[in-house]
Amino acid sequence: MRLVFASNNAHKLEEVRAMMPAGVEVLSLREIGFEHEIDETGTTLEENSAIKSEAVWEFINGGNGDAALNGGNGGLMIDGVFADDTGLEINALCGEPGVYTARWYKLEPTLTLPKEKGMTDEMLTFHCNRAKALRELEGKEDRGCQFRTVITLIRKGETTQVEGIVRGRIAEQEFGEGGFGYDPVFIPEGYDKTFGELPAEIKNQISHRARAVEELVKVLKKSFI
Ligand code: IMP
Repeated sequence: MRLVFASNNAHKLEEVRAMMPAGVEVLSLREIGFEHEIDETGTTLEENSAIKSEAVWEFINGGNGDAALNGGNGGLMIDGVFADDTGLEINALCGEPGVYTARWYKLEPTLTLPKEKGMTDEMLTFHCNRAKALRELEGKEDRGCQFRTVITLIRKGETTQVEGIVRGRIAEQEFGEGGFGYDPVFIPEGYDKTFGELPAEIKNQISHRARAVEELVKVLKKSFI
């Protein structure tokens, strides 16, 4: 079975490939020559992951089932596509930032912090987002939250959605430098260290993404039976 993962993130691709059962090959967007920007205009994680999967499926199949990439000589014969979307859902903020997790601080321009030496734009975004999370929870007793990943699989014309959740809480300050995004302020349930401090092997076993991919694998395995 040959599937496209609607991502070019090398880290995610590696993680997902390592979890796939034998007989499932995963291609990146780059490997199928997909170079378009996809507008994530949805208002939920479910909508955004579906928008991404549909855009890539449309690209592969030329919109009418007469596959540009899938048909003819040398066609890649792609069986399906899947895309993920992740959000941080904070209890005390009624599930925010949710679908806005990646660009949370940008909703409040005054929050932009100075770019420190050696920081890329992406690092600055992560830095500002974490600062916003700490500020929003200042003085709040309930620091509970969860990371939720939704994966939309389109295969044989059918759409299936699965999700993975890791519950935890927002730390009082940043700890550790591992991982990315909100990792230095997220303490998963059952641990007293942040994802920024825990070894990657632990994070990769219990993370929202790993759990969503586990659910995806269950769906794929059913089609082998
Ligand atoms: P995406 O849908 O995977 O691009 O994730 C959206 C945003 O959620 C990212 O830009 C990060 O800010 C945050 N995020 C996703 N996964 C993680 C994670 O494993 N650790 C920390 N932050 C994450």
